[in-house]
Amino acid sequence: MKILGISGSLRAGSFNTALLKVAAELAQKAGVKFEIYDISDIPFYNSDLDADNKPDAVVKFNAAIKNADGLLFSTPEYNYSIPGVLKNAIDWASRPGFNAALTKKPCGIVSASMSSLGGARAQIHLRDILFGTLSPVYLAPEFLLASAHKAFDENGKLADQKTAEFLDKYIQGYVGWLNTIKNN
Ligand SMILES: Cc1cc2nc3c(=O)[nH]c(=O)nc-3n(C[C@H](O)[C@H](O)[C@H](O)COP(=O)(O)O)c2cc1C
Repeated sequence: MKILGISGSLRAGSFNTALLKVAAELAQKAGVKFEIYDISDIPFYNSDLDADNKPDAVVKFNAAIKNADGLLFSTPEYNYSIPGVLKNAIDWASRPGFNAALTKKPCGIVSASMSSLGGARAQIHLRDILFGTLSPVYLAPEFLLASAHKAFDENGKLADQKTAEFLDKYIQGYVGWLNTIKNN
């Protein structure tokens, strides 16, 4: 079992990337491989480049998705939606339609935001986008982290025990769902 973690934030001190690091530890404890994929080198989507010779960063990204049993997105909310960099990466991985790296790939969604809504609106948008790529999404329990700046210490370590337990519950549920899909 292998999960690919994708953060919607390129920021070095990103709470979403930090959340994926905690998710990776929890998944590894449950015997699951977890790799965090950096989408920062993926160029802007351009159909002219989406031909036989795709950009190297796109070829690498598609291969990493194909090689994973499931994806775990951790996204911030930007203006009530997901960041453009994440939508851009998803657009690349969604082509060719119906036969893309993302087609039928099981996905999980978590979010972290400094606001009290924890990225809930971005989660709903991301779920809808993943319907468009024919990627099934794990539905419950949902995980979102509100006031993310209060849950992490100054070294970027998760300091809030309740958040760790909540995320563990999400990871256990998500891995169980992936196992059901894999064994069917
Ligand atoms: C362009 C921009 C728009 C934002 N819009 C929202 C928003 O609509 N809702 C929200 O909760 N936070 C919003 N934020 C705050 C981010 O969610 C918050 O800074 C978050 O911590 C960023 O994620 P990161 O720590 O993983 O980089 C916005 C931040 C930026 C830069």
